[in-house]
Amino acid sequence: MTTLVRGARQLLTLRGPAGPRRGPALRELGLVPNGSVLVRGGVIVAAGPSRTVDRLTDLRRARIIEAAGKVVMPGFVDCHTHLVCGPPRLQDYERRIAGAGYSEIAAAGGGILFSVRAVRKLSARALEEQAHRTLAAMARHGTTTVEAKSGYGLDRTAEIKTLRVAGRFPRVIPTYLGAHIPPPEMDADRYIAWMADCMLPLVARRKLARFADVYCDAGAFTVEQARRYLRRAAEVGLGLKIHAEQFARTGAALLAVELGATSADHLEQAGEEEVAALARSETIAVLLPGSVFHLGLSRYAPARALIDAGAAVALATDHNPGTSPTFSMPMVLSLACTQMRMTPAEAVAAATINAAHAVGAASRTGSLEAGKQADLIVLDLADYRELPYYFGTNNVATTLIAGEVIA
Ligand code: NIG
Ligand code: FE
Repeated sequence: MTTLVRGARQLLTLRGPAGPRRGPALRELGLVPNGSVLVRGGVIVAAGPSRTVDRLTDLRRARIIEAAGKVVMPGFVDCHTHLVCGPPRLQDYERRIAGAGYSEIAAAGGGILFSVRAVRKLSARALEEQAHRTLAAMARHGTTTVEAKSGYGLDRTAEIKTLRVAGRFPRVIPTYLGAHIPPPEMDADRYIAWMADCMLPLVARRKLARFADVYCDAGAFTVEQARRYLRRAAEVGLGLKIHAEQFARTGAALLAVELGATSADHLEQAGEEEVAALARSETIAVLLPGSVFHLGLSRYAPARALIDAGAAVALATDHNPGTSPTFSMPMVLSLACTQMRMTPAEAVAAATINAAHAVGAASRTGSLEAGKQADLIVLDLADYRELPYYFGTNNVATTLIAGEVIA
């Protein structure tokens, strides 16, 4: 099947050098005025000026998607989510609005352990149905690739169940977040040792996940515990990710750099030392402003300092029932621009090509270039800057994944 996405007012190809974009390169979107994308067998054949691309097309046989007056760009790569997570935590939400803190909420039976109890009880089928609905909602908001962490199971059965559910969706990249918090039945050191001995090798051997992640924070795991866990994860061949500097400044971002982690995520409390270390490293800074917004906090990650120092920055929703119940990458872009002072161009590149690098998927997706999978969106907008500008609205008209219209 051949598809021609024709005549976009602005085609953002995000074409550029291999590797994540840094500094001024993060603002280069490969913008083609009046552009088209030709797709065959789910793969991009050509993306560029309509006058050349349209000529390559046998218009009698091709399906035409008219994009006149609109913006066409790569689908979003949501590179940090807790997709398989059970029900919403509405009591936590109301308690927080009433002024309760993290520990009060946990003491009242809320917090991460609420979700753990729920996920342990739910069947794989029920979790799969929920993930399916969430992915559909994300696709309507323009997301075409999703990273999905486990971490609401914590025991062997529930973690494997979670990773299998995530792995059933071709657009999902699973991450083992066994080290989310210590489970009720074990202390943190024993739990780390058990994961190092049993779970990490098992996850790698059965190819249940591509990455291992650890939540390094007060009430979760220390830097030393995270180091042990991640060293073992690297030994068994998993890529490394860290929830770093979210509530407490722990040194986790420096650990990410030390271990050559693929990404250090959150970074709300990161200071000059972390910014400088990340800028010198290959580790991508994944920023998650949705969780700051939903928690009603005001300290966002230092995006401007990170970008200006030369760090590779990506954006994601952090979709989860406790701190960021959103499906919307466009909302994340709005927050990135207004709260973290990223430019609209930087936010677009951070949410597409750099996010693809953050999940090791940049050879397949994240930009519109010949040979890549045709993951693209048509926006009912005349200028890409309107994407973050109109906040809390969804202007995605069409979402294509591997050339198929999904939403
Ligand atoms: O990324 N910080 C730890 N994990 C999640 C929150 C999990 C939850 O509250 O359920 C996060 O924000
Ligand atoms: Fe998270």
